[in-house]
Amino acid sequence: MKVLLVPALALVLGACGGPSGDGQPFKASPEQIARGKYLARAADCAACHTAPDGPAMAGGVPLESPFGALYGSNITPDPEHGIGKWSADDFYRAVHDGSAPGSRQLYPAMPYTSYRGMPREDVDAIYAYLMSLPPVKQANKEADLHFPYNMRFGVVFWKLLFLKDELPNSSQGSSPQWLRGRYLGNVLGHCGECHTPRGKLGQMNLGESLKGAPMGRWMAPDITPAGLAARGWTEADVRQFMKTGVAPQGSAFSEMHLVVKLSTQYLTDDDLGALARYTMGDKAPPPEPVKADATADQRLGSGRQIYLNACAGCHGRDGDGRPHVAVAMAGNATLRQPDAHNLIVSILDGVPAQEFPGLERMQDMPAFGHQYTDAELADLANYLRVRFAGLAADVQADTVKKLR
Ligand code: HEC
Ligand code: HEC
Ligand code: HEC
Repeated sequence: MKVLLVPALALVLGACGGPSGDGQPFKASPEQIARGKYLARAADCAACHTAPDGPAMAGGVPLESPFGALYGSNITPDPEHGIGKWSADDFYRAVHDGSAPGSRQLYPAMPYTSYRGMPREDVDAIYAYLMSLPPVKQANKEADLHFPYNMRFGVVFWKLLFLKDELPNSSQGSSPQWLRGRYLGNVLGHCGECHTPRGKLGQMNLGESLKGAPMGRWMAPDITPAGLAARGWTEADVRQFMKTGVAPQGSAFSEMHLVVKLSTQYLTDDDLGALARYTMGDKAPPPEPVKADATADQRLGSGRQIYLNACAGCHGRDGDGRPHVAVAMAGNATLRQPDAHNLIVSILDGVPAQEFPGLERMQDMPAFGHQYTDAELADLANYLRVRFAGLAADVQADTVKKLR
């Protein structure tokens, strides 16, 4: 670690006070930079500021929103395109208040609504880390939002309404572990930015914290303690999922896979434990056992037949999965979601091969959308829901059609 950091530090100190330096004079210790790197990972800055295969924090990451397209900015220390000329105060205002130098209002797609809970010293450490990165000359792309959301000054009014100093607790607790977890979940990990439903102006609907929300093609499910326990999750499972992306309840995919890959896998053991504790609460509700219904094999025979033909080769005849091939369907949390949205989309689109931290490797899951009719896929979904999750067979062909 030190070996890597020392040249970076030399580079930073070289800019400090030097006559040619057009960046901000700035000093930091290797410890502060390392702490900033850890915090930047816990806060997943890279998800929106590092393009896939692009240089670290150089921006250009496209983000879709119902209001149009936005791009994560260049936050390397480049003086022209990045934050090279910003002081630590400027940076704090951006992360804490959503205002860039020159009173430029930042759109709340930059999750300062969550980051606002970061203490000054943590923001300063992230600043130190970013200033230690190689500057990248890459121009920012201006957001392309529909009227009236393209008017930046409107953000001032949005903030008056929706920028709160604290987000509500999503579980009950008071232990030191729970308190640390609250900081990791509510603030750094900004779980609510995806899992909390949003109102008409894009604000998090805080009365419904973490109760699940649509996210582009997928749904971010309910991750309240009650919602998770109803799908069989325990604190230990949540911890394992955040560390490795795989748990007895299934694997992380779509945006959640990125959260694990770029952010939570790097948490220390203590912080992982704290995040899982906060997610489930100091007194976690007991996990609900699956009411798997084997009579579905007869009653829902057409769905069963499709399962045997198309899925059982990887997920197992009895849905118990195959190590390093595919996750179990029995007790799978995606199947157990009352809303069949993610189940149907995973069947229609498949799941690309994903890298998991540690040793787990699975191939991709093929897309089945073109192989079966809406009615057949509804039969399949209903079979899976009853057989492996004990839910109602209430998926209609029409629901499948809408999701194609
Ligand atoms: C969910 C996506 C997302 C995450 C996560 C995120 N940002 Fe941003 N950030 C954005 C977007 C989008 C913008 C541009 C907003 C705009 O155009 O108004 C932005 C802008 C910024 C800016 C202003 C740059 C400029 O020149 O305008 C800074 C500074 C910044 N982010 C820092 C951070 C840091 C530090 C983190 C991690 C602690 C972080 N961001 C995490 C989406 C994100
Ligand atoms: C070639 C092997 C293969 C086949 C065939 C296959 N799957 Fe999958 N499936 C996977 C793998 C691997 C994953 C996990 C992917 C990941 O997260 O990287 C997965 C994930 C899923 C998921 C998401 C749940 C989770 O926890 O990841 C569902 C739901 C699912 N499969 C249902 C089905 C159904 C229904 C069929 C039949 C129509 C099917 N699969 C066919 C390999 C397969
Ligand atoms: C960028 C958006 C995003 C962020 C941020 C995010 N999630 Fe998720 N999460 C998702 C999506 C989408 C899914 C559904 C896909 C899946 O199950 O892997 C999901 C699934 C999950 C699941 C699996 C639930 C189940 O029953 O299948 C858990 C647990 C979870 N998230 C916890 C968290 C926690 C804790 C945080 C904060 C540290 C967090 N998520 C942050 C988007 C996000």
